[in-house]
Amino acid sequence: MEFHNISIQDLGGYVSLVTIERPKKLNALNKETIAELHQVFVSLENDDQVRVILLIGSGEKAFVAGADIAEFASFTIEQGKDLAEKGQKTLFDLIENFSKPVIAAINGFALGGGLELAMACHIRYASENAKMGLPEVSLGLIPGYGGTQRLPQLVGKGRAMEMILTGGMISSTQALEYGLVNRVVPQEELLISCLEIAKKIVQNAPSSASAAIKAINSGFAGNDGYSKEITLFGSCFGTSDFIEGTTAFLNKRKPEF
Ligand code: COA
Repeated sequence: MEFHNISIQDLGGYVSLVTIERPKKLNALNKETIAELHQVFVSLENDDQVRVILLIGSGEKAFVAGADIAEFASFTIEQGKDLAEKGQKTLFDLIENFSKPVIAAINGFALGGGLELAMACHIRYASENAKMGLPEVSLGLIPGYGGTQRLPQLVGKGRAMEMILTGGMISSTQALEYGLVNRVVPQEELLISCLEIAKKIVQNAPSSASAAIKAINSGFAGNDGYSKEITLFGSCFGTSDFIEGTTAFLNKRKPEF
């Protein structure tokens, strides 16, 4: 598949790197980029050779500086609603509920739709120079790609209110303190650090990663997470990964998933 705004690189060891390639526009998410990211994730879902995805922005300045403001500047109410709905369903929800762990490597500005994209990922690492914020109120908007829901889940309601109502940016150090990112590293070490955690994940059962993501997300989506956990826990017993994991343990060898 050919993409204009996305590149995919196989890093080996079941890890794939997806890069958003619009550096001149600080990787802003226009319609085409969102559609391409959707296609990329659908193809990665079906690729047995991929078990963890790293998502990064091209260049050294930005992860993603938001939705493309130029594209929606003349939108009507209906078009605005459609933009948020399509974006949420085709990309942001797709990533949040992806069956394989997705790690955001926040290598610079993650603003608006860019921070929302990082928040839809399962784990976030940031470089020291990264800046994060939801500045939509400065444009007469509110976050539309899930930001009003995911930010309070990650940092708490009070901090989310402050970030969204002021529209201000926070540093990666503050994001770490808030729990918005899991770790902060120098920019040149960002991908290596993400790769290290990806390698740890890959050693575990892929079907367990998928079930864990579903179970964790379930309660946040307003469902009975405890009951979902029971069902998913039970279904693990029917997988070949479970047979391999327990057999390996009992035979004192490393499992091969
Ligand atoms: N949508 C469309 N274009 C964007 C963009 C966005 N969200 N963010 C940056 N760009 C474009 C700029 O228009 C500029 O394009 P140009 O060179 O053709 O004029 C280019 O990317 C570089 O950005 P610039 O503003 O010149 O860089 P900077 O270093 O001075 O400022 C930011 C960086 C991130 C502070 C600034 O670009 C910004 O505020 N962007 C918008 C952030 C935002 O409000 N996002 C939420 C959208 S809902």
